[in-house]
Amino acid sequence: VQVVRFNQSFSISFHQQIEYMFEINENYLQLNESYLFSTIAKRIEKFSASHPEADIIRLGIGDVTLPLPPSVLQAMHNAVDEMGVKETFRGYGPEQGYAFLREKISEVDFRQRGIDISPGEIFVGDGSKSDTGNIGDILGEGNVVAITNPVYPVYLDTNIMRLGKSSQIVLLPCGEENGFLPEIPSHHLDVIYLCYPNNPTGTVMNREQLKQWVDYALENRSLILFDAAYEAFIRDNEIPRSIYEIEGAAACAIEFRSFSKNAGFTGLRCSYTVVPKVLTARSAEGSNISLNGLWNRRQSTKFNGTPYIVQKAAEAVYSPEGQQEVREMVSYYMRNAEMIREGLTEKGWTFFGGKDSPYIWLKCPGGMDSWTFFDRLLQECHIVGTPGVGFGSKGEGYFRLTAFNSHERTAEAVRRIKQWEY
Ligand code: MLT
Repeated sequence: VQVVRFNQSFSISFHQQIEYMFEINENYLQLNESYLFSTIAKRIEKFSASHPEADIIRLGIGDVTLPLPPSVLQAMHNAVDEMGVKETFRGYGPEQGYAFLREKISEVDFRQRGIDISPGEIFVGDGSKSDTGNIGDILGEGNVVAITNPVYPVYLDTNIMRLGKSSQIVLLPCGEENGFLPEIPSHHLDVIYLCYPNNPTGTVMNREQLKQWVDYALENRSLILFDAAYEAFIRDNEIPRSIYEIEGAAACAIEFRSFSKNAGFTGLRCSYTVVPKVLTARSAEGSNISLNGLWNRRQSTKFNGTPYIVQKAAEAVYSPEGQQEVREMVSYYMRNAEMIREGLTEKGWTFFGGKDSPYIWLKCPGGMDSWTFFDRLLQECHIVGTPGVGFGSKGEGYFRLTAFNSHERTAEAVRRIKQWEY
């Protein structure tokens, strides 16, 4: 290694580049140039700039449009006031989240549904995107990691960031032929990402299908990373809302939950991750290591907690009024999903999802590829959706619409699609 010493200070102009000697994480160079939703945002911006008169309807990114529920807002106002008074002001909070919120989550989301998850197994975070992206910090680099195709891009991208485009990342094809559900593999996988109700396909796993994955994980001593960010949209009682409804899952699964889509927190940021205490892994030395302990170590080092005012807002979701308000918001969005489903049925297009999920996954008509369909829908109908191929090669030829806009805008989008001669 050549050591370079500067004997005298040298001057360099502000924008002048110099040749660096440190290394970067080269895995980043293997990623697509930008994150899917950033790419789409740029395309829309470009179209809007050249067509300022276009009245664009956004059914693309899964971002909510209804304002925060009144009880959430009130709780946040109160918390803001507390922060302005010496006696009630709060500085750093517990990295795992405040007990008041962890207790409510444990009670309402789990114990009242017969699932024994304690507050100590719950870690409050600032969004499932962060937690599903960061969970790899506590996992070894030698794992075979399985990710569905198509998939929410965060799982794949964050694994490429860690491992590079490696043969350790196994894609589980989910197409029309298997109902967009991954098949149980005949080989060994160490870590499996599952997201149900699914983003992007809007499909769900019933109890038996999820049980097969839990059984596989238990037999293979694998870990399931279960993203349940859309559980509030499940209307069919036969569909599990949590992986812990399946016997044995606490010993093999971490679950991610979010307040973004059910309670409108996409801008506020609050989520939680469940890491059961019975979940252990074997260290290279052969001792049993608690994943709860590892995640706690990770969070207390790299995360300073979700803001107090946001956690108070999330707590209000669990009040009887909050629960009612959230139910109404979800029903509102599901009415949009129904409108889209009805419209597409009339149009004669093939689609999936939208029943227990805010996403509708349609097959691009006339054999169009996903990006052609995206461009034409934008240019000819002024509607934005998400090209299926952006979620993986198996998404080619498909397109995702969300139910998160208003009734009026959704109805207008459906009207435009119905009239569209493509
Ligand atoms: C999506 O559109 O897939 C979601 O908004 C992604 C997310 O929640 O980060």
